[in-house]
Amino acid sequence: MTLRNRLILSVLALIALVGLIIGVVSSLALNGFLLARLDAQLKTATDRSLMSIDGPRPDSPSSGSTGSSGDPAFVGGPGQAAGTLGGFSLGGVVDRAAIVDSAGVLQQLTTEQLDTLSSLTATDQPQTVNLGGSLGDYRVAFDRSESGNGIVVGLPLADVTATVTQLVIVTVLVTIGGLVVAALLGTVLIRLALRPLDRVVATATRVTRLQLDRGDVALAERVPDADTDPRTEVGRVGASLNKLLGHVASALTSRQASENKVRQFVADASHELRTPLASIRGYAELTRRGDFDLPPDVTHSLGRIESEATRMTSLVEDLLLLARLDEGPSIEKAPVDLTRVLVDAVSDAHVAAGDHEWVLDLPEEPIEVSGDGPRLYQVVSNLLANARVHTPAGTEVTVALASGVDASGVPSAIITVSDDGPGIDPVLVETLFERFVRGDVSRFRQAGSTSTGLGLAIVRAVVDAHGGGVEVESRPGATAFRITLPKRAVGAAAR
Ligand SMILES: Nc1ncnc2c1ncn2[C@@H]1O[C@H](COP(=O)(O)OP(=O)(O)O)[C@@H](O)[C@H]1O
Ligand SMILES: [Mg+2]
Repeated sequence: MTLRNRLILSVLALIALVGLIIGVVSSLALNGFLLARLDAQLKTATDRSLMSIDGPRPDSPSSGSTGSSGDPAFVGGPGQAAGTLGGFSLGGVVDRAAIVDSAGVLQQLTTEQLDTLSSLTATDQPQTVNLGGSLGDYRVAFDRSESGNGIVVGLPLADVTATVTQLVIVTVLVTIGGLVVAALLGTVLIRLALRPLDRVVATATRVTRLQLDRGDVALAERVPDADTDPRTEVGRVGASLNKLLGHVASALTSRQASENKVRQFVADASHELRTPLASIRGYAELTRRGDFDLPPDVTHSLGRIESEATRMTSLVEDLLLLARLDEGPSIEKAPVDLTRVLVDAVSDAHVAAGDHEWVLDLPEEPIEVSGDGPRLYQVVSNLLANARVHTPAGTEVTVALASGVDASGVPSAIITVSDDGPGIDPVLVETLFERFVRGDVSRFRQAGSTSTGLGLAIVRAVVDAHGGGVEVESRPGATAFRITLPKRAVGAAAR
């Protein structure tokens, strides 16, 4: 649940609770007050009745009663309000009782109502009793002697009940109204109050979208000054986030600086090594081919020096290329016909390894991408070299080119290099495209002399610099590298 909803719900719950407490307390208080007043009126009505009976207390119904039929005529006496109940109690049993209606006429109580009255506990305090029917609740009080003879007087509770009910209804309505107003106003106010937090969140979200893991990153995102006031809660969050971003930015800058230094060193070192390597190669070759009478093991050593110098040269070239690609996508953008690239690469591979089977699967029409031709050739030839040196003789290698779309739907050229060799060691697959990751060089004799672990790193670096992607799928008998390169835009092709 969002903080916003939780706040609103808490406020509503509090208001409902306060409304409930006010309602209960005020209804109870009002009820108590009205009952006390009614009891006082009951006392007056009892006194008035006793007066009109004329005499202290009627010990027998005949002694003080008035009215020919034995009715409790005192109920209708002067000053008695409509609805007043009056009756005689004889030995604790109420045997005659009546209620005076609004026209001043006495209405006799039914037998059940008399029974209800008789069943009341013998106390002189006023009691509440439900007489049923249209009469409802009554507040009644006895005035009788030890023997249970005397009178009972009652007053209706209807007014009290109606007033208290009214109060309850009003309280409930006011509380509901308050809840609605609080929900509406509260939503607006809380939204306003949380707006600074939204801005802080927006800043954090923008930072998460930045690519911070490599390259030269300028982390300029900061929470606006208005939301960094340390006197407010949100301000403290904003200020801490800014401080954090500052630390991250300086960490990134120093990381980048040290990366640049390493890269520069590798580039410089590789560059400087090229010339002496060329000399070693040249002198070795010169000596070997020279007109000397050299013992065979010296000739062999010179050949080894030459081939190792060649290998080291290509290693140095690879390192230099990787260092340059790391500096940024400084790739050339010229139209490259991939069909040509594949035909060249496969025919070169064919010459290098005639004991492998090479299959070329090209589409009808040429496919062009925009990029650096020699680098793309190097990508394909690295894959072909792998398919050659990391598989036994007789392996069939298929190189296919097709049009398609990449994962995000961009029209792309898709190059697939697949072989039916033994597959890539599963422990390598995760890190395959990282630098110096290579398999067991003793697997195939050929691989030992050329393996550096840089081939696939270069493949990925070049393909990335072209805005493409590379993926691999491998199991024994089926290894496939798939490269997607965005196709040249149609407009660019027409120019
Ligand atoms: N087609 C393939 N079949 C089997 N193993 C392969 C294949 N391609 C690459 N590999 C494995 O991946 C490793 C890394 O390849 P790569 O980066 O080109 O380095 P290198 O070829 O110099 O060893 C290789 O050492 C090899 O073990
Ligand atoms: Mg390789």
